[in-house]
Order: sequence, then structure tokens, then C-alpha cells
Amino acid sequence: MILYKKHILIAIVSIFIASFFTLSLSAAEEVEVHHWWTSGGEAAALQVLKKDLENKGITWKDSGVAGGGGAQAMTALKARISAGTPPTAVQMLGFDINDWAELGYLADLNNIAKEDNWDSVIPKALQRFSKYNGVWVAAPVNVHSVNWVWGNREILSKVGVKKSDLKTWDNFIKAAKKVQAAGYIAFAHGGQDWQDATVFDSIIYATGGRDFYIKTMIEQDTNAIKSATMRRAFDRFREFGNLLDDNFSGREWSQTTALVINGEAAFQIMGDWAKGEFVKAGKKPNSDFVCFRVPGTQEAVLFNSDQFAMIEVGDNRRDAQEAMAKAVMDPSFQSTFNVVKGSVPARVDVPNTAFDFCGKKGMLQLATANNNNTMLGSMAHGHAGKPAIKNAYFDVVTTFLNDASMSSREASSNLANAIFAAQE
Ligand code: GAL
Repeated sequence: MILYKKHILIAIVSIFIASFFTLSLSAAEEVEVHHWWTSGGEAAALQVLKKDLENKGITWKDSGVAGGGGAQAMTALKARISAGTPPTAVQMLGFDINDWAELGYLADLNNIAKEDNWDSVIPKALQRFSKYNGVWVAAPVNVHSVNWVWGNREILSKVGVKKSDLKTWDNFIKAAKKVQAAGYIAFAHGGQDWQDATVFDSIIYATGGRDFYIKTMIEQDTNAIKSATMRRAFDRFREFGNLLDDNFSGREWSQTTALVINGEAAFQIMGDWAKGEFVKAGKKPNSDFVCFRVPGTQEAVLFNSDQFAMIEVGDNRRDAQEAMAKAVMDPSFQSTFNVVKGSVPARVDVPNTAFDFCGKKGMLQLATANNNNTMLGSMAHGHAGKPAIKNAYFDVVTTFLNDASMSSREASSNLANAIFAAQE
């Protein structure tokens, strides 16, 4: 009888121990990732990360919130944090990372950053956002840039647009008019604030050059924002607006890219995440589509970088979180991931071998721009100004595009006032 009781006791204790380990292991081996990568190309890239983590024994809990540019995902994040149920890692851009770090929600990754030497392999322009007061709080997974044009090669050759027609903004507009006259959509565009602003970033650079972009977007100097050069930039934005189709309003960016892929539109001005859609559709650079810098911005890389900001979580979730941060920074992962995503690696030591023509070009341009100080943060994607400034910019730029009666003078003065009001 005593022996029998002993057996039961042993059995209960072992069940208890086993379930304790299973519970703590499953908590330690899962990451919940909050992101907005829901288009075809984005989801394919995310799959690369998910697979990589699964191979390391880490389970993926998906928390995707659709909406290009991430505004909806950021709103959803606020709700998660205030409910006290934070995800493990969050896709975040630029100044948003700083804000969350300032509020004390982000984890300290200094140990692994030191172990893996992040200081010397991650470009300084990204470190400015990955670190807060000397503490690593995020792991950058890519470098995207917004001043790209994606073109349908067949339409361009049918209409007779040559590479030499695409060197200056004015000639670019002439080429776009030729496309429109031939019955195609000249510019595929999705009328959403962040997409409007993505185009306007490039127009500002193309119109005023490097110093003007720095003065207006990075330093947010209101006199420069009110200047004749900014008025000229708005004039150009109007020209762009006159070359859109009737259904542009509210269109998702990936549906917009599809118009170029399917041969309905000649061009899309969009960040290189658009390339992920071409790749997903099995299209090849130079034979099916062309990629070139927005005319007038050839020397510049107006960048944004997706980083995984790590949320301060309990000890039971920390191992998996650190394993994810390490995995994200792995050089061979950065190569595989960015080939699919359309971006370039967030490390300086990744070979370009696996990248296609546009990727190789992007990597070379990034290195050159970095040396020439023409690698500048995109305002539309949170790398030039704080979120309040970015939102002020969105408002004015979108209102202008949708209101043909607004003059460039009015728009530039509204922009100066809105940015001034948003400054701290
Ligand atoms: C950007 C982000 C890219 C891409 C794009 C559209 O802000 O950096 O990775 O996903 O939004 O959703």
C-alpha cells in the first residue's frame, strides 16, 4: 500500500515537473511579431524570417495589421501596450522607435549587440534609430529607399521612351505625357497620405537638391519651406497629379504596383518594397521591368529602415526575443530576406552576389550616397522628422494633391505653418 502511494506521488511530481518545463519552454520559444507586411511580396519576405526562426526552434505568433506605411499597425500597438499584452517584437520606423524608447517600453539589447559587434557592421545612419541613449533597442532588418521609379519595359518601348528621356524631372514628365497620349496610365499611384508623401519626398530633392532637402525635411526650416523652390516643388507635384488615372484615390500601394506589372501603367514612383511585388509575380528586372532613381535624385538615397524594436517583456520571453534579434542580424539571413523584400541589407558586410540587377544597383548607390552624405532620411517614412511633423506633412501634401484649386503658394505656406505648429 505504502509502495503504491509512493508511485502515485512520483507520478504526480513528474507530471508537474514535465508540465512546468513544457510551459516555460513554450513561452521561451515563441515570439509574437507585430508588423504590417501583408502584401504578396511583404508576406513572402516575412515567410523567410518565420522559417529561419522555426529552424531555430522558435515558434512564430503572427500579429499583422494591414496598411502600407504602418499607421494602422502603430495605432494597434498602442492598444496592445495599454492593455498590458505587448507583442515580443514590433516592426518600426525611425523616430517612432525613439519615441517608444523614450517612454521606456523597449528592451536593452546591449549584450547581444556587443557579442555580435553591431556597432561596427550596422551603418551609423541606422544606429541613430536603433539606439536610444547608448542602448540598443532595435535590430534593423533592411534599408529601403523611396526615390525609385518602377517602369513597365514593354510599354516604354512601344511608346518609344528611351533611357535618355529619364534623366531630368522635366523630361520624365514629357515621357509620361507621351505614355498618357498612347492610352496608358502614365503614373500608377495610390491616393493615400503616405503614398502621396512618398512621391513628394523625391520631388523636393529633385527640385532643390541635397541642401534644400536637408533644410526643409531634416532641419524643418520654415523659411526654406515657404520659399520659391518649395512652390516649384508643389508645381511639379501638380504636374504629377495631372497624369494619374481617375481611380487613384485610396488605392493600396500593391494594387498600384500591379498596374505596372500587368501592363496598364508605365511608371510607379514608390519605395523598393514595390520590387518585392515584381519578384513575387515572377518578373525580371531589365526584361519585364526597369528600376531607376527618380530623375533629379540620382545621387541620393532617401532611405527608411524597418527595424524590429524589442519590447520590454518578462524573463520567460526574453530568450526567444534575443534569439530573434540575433537571427535578424545574421549576414546570410539579411541576404536571403532582402532579396525577397526588394530592400538592401542593414549591414555593411553582406555580399551582393544573391541580389538581382536592381538590388546590386541599390547596394552600390547606398555605399556611394553614404560616402557623399546624400543618404538622407525619408520624411514620408519617419526618418526625417518626428511623428507629429510627419503627420503635418501628410496633411498638407495630400490636401494639395486632391484640391486642384489650391495654389503652390498656399500649399507651401500651409506646410510651413503646419510644421511650425508641430515642432516642440
Ligand atoms: C514602409 C516599410 C516597407 C513597406 C512599405 C509598405 O514603411 O518600410 O517595408 O512595407 O511601408 O507597406
